[in-house]
Amino acid sequence: MLGSAVVWLGYLVVLSAAGVAVVAGASWCLLDRPTFDRFAGRLLRAWWRRWVVYQRQWFDLAYRAGLVVTDHRGRAWAPKVLRVSSSWCWDHVRIRMVKTQEPGDFEAVLERLANAYRARRATVRTLKPGVISLDFQIREPFDEMPVPLPPLPESPESVDLGRLVIGRTEYGRDFALDLLRGLHVLLAGATGSGKGSWLWGLIRQLAPMVRAGSVRLWVIDPKGGMEFGAGREMFHRFADSDETGLDLMREYVETLDTRKEDLGRQGVRTATASLATPMDVLIVDELAAMTQYCTRDIAREFEPLLGKALTQYRAVLGRVVGAVQEPHKDTVPMRGLFPTKIALRLDEASYVDMTLGEGVRDRGALADQIPEIMPGVGYVKHDGRREPLRVRAAFTSDDDIAALVAYCTGSTITPLRREQPPAPRRSAIAEATEADIESIDFFDGDDEDHDAA
Ligand SMILES: Nc1ncnc2c1ncn2[C@@H]1O[C@H](COP(=O)(O)OP(=O)(O)OP(=O)(O)O)[C@@H](O)[C@H]1O
Ligand SMILES: [Mg+2]
Repeated sequence: MLGSAVVWLGYLVVLSAAGVAVVAGASWCLLDRPTFDRFAGRLLRAWWRRWVVYQRQWFDLAYRAGLVVTDHRGRAWAPKVLRVSSSWCWDHVRIRMVKTQEPGDFEAVLERLANAYRARRATVRTLKPGVISLDFQIREPFDEMPVPLPPLPESPESVDLGRLVIGRTEYGRDFALDLLRGLHVLLAGATGSGKGSWLWGLIRQLAPMVRAGSVRLWVIDPKGGMEFGAGREMFHRFADSDETGLDLMREYVETLDTRKEDLGRQGVRTATASLATPMDVLIVDELAAMTQYCTRDIAREFEPLLGKALTQYRAVLGRVVGAVQEPHKDTVPMRGLFPTKIALRLDEASYVDMTLGEGVRDRGALADQIPEIMPGVGYVKHDGRREPLRVRAAFTSDDDIAALVAYCTGSTITPLRREQPPAPRRSAIAEATEADIESIDFFDGDDEDHDAA
């Protein structure tokens, strides 16, 4: 009698604990999906998808796709699913190939596997000899998510330099750049990937301070002013060639050196952006034009100046925002000095880790897989945070740029268009998210040492 009462009580306790955990998890997920996904959601999703999707159908699909190998005794050898990990948009299925197979065998049937698993696209990566990762894109949040131009701060005082909203994250939240703690920003993207809209988005958020003189923009657009020529009136300095770019860089460094000395003498350790000590933002649209595709003399003088700008002016409000198409070491020798790194669509898989850091592509930043029809989409990596974030910047049109210039130069009395973001639609994100509370990540280390069979 007593025994069954204890069992019954234990039962109740376990059930209530499970209920509390589910309610707490669901509330966490509803209140803060990005953090929930980062710490719990992707683990749950990976676990779920491993057992319910990938593992369950694997042998059958591998057989149909011709990936099962038969030996001379008639025994069938199938590649083995070792582990599944998951980010918001991609699943990564780690596979041990059968001996004698090669990644090309999987490449040949990728489309079939993607279709079978209802993925939007698939790609294969070699992780180490005998082991590959099949990556399946399971959703594209930006297909249906509108990314409106964010509203502008009303006044210079309401500009938060630590939170300059320029677009949306894959979770549908505002995405902001941080020029206070995030310091310098490196933007890598192939031609047409949307670097321009990121840069203009940032400039636009600074507009009230630019107008008031507490932020000054130093812009080098060495491609003849194609991208930023329209804004020359609102920039403190503007250069449209490599020679004038070098002059601008010299003046930038001189100005900040002088400020550093002045503030040092006054005992000011960290300046606040104001008319007397403006934040000086240096924007270089194509770094390669100043470091590689220019005369040796220009590059030789420019690089140390840029290195100085990246290392010495944090406290005196010098910030650098650089864009580049090919993030080689020759092009951006000082990549590591940019704490905020963004990879838009890139031409080569190897460029992803060059931009975001070692191993970040393996953690889901497949920037080389961003389709051409999605300009403005990229992956962001903040120092000190493991997971890359998929983000899209809002598009700043030519009309928006003209209005911005007029606003900053005071040649208009009409306030800048302040678009309110449309009411959130129950679009892919909202719907998919509810359906996806299942998700899980899984690590099955033991399996890795087993032979495929
Ligand atoms: N955030 C965005 N949303 C939607 N469309 C965009 C976005 N950004 C850019 N586009 C579209 O993509 C085109 C190319 O973008 P953009 O000029 O910014 O590329 P880029 O990376 O600066 O290229 P390049 O290196 O050639 O200068 C734009 O003309 C625009 O039509
Ligand atoms: Mg451009």
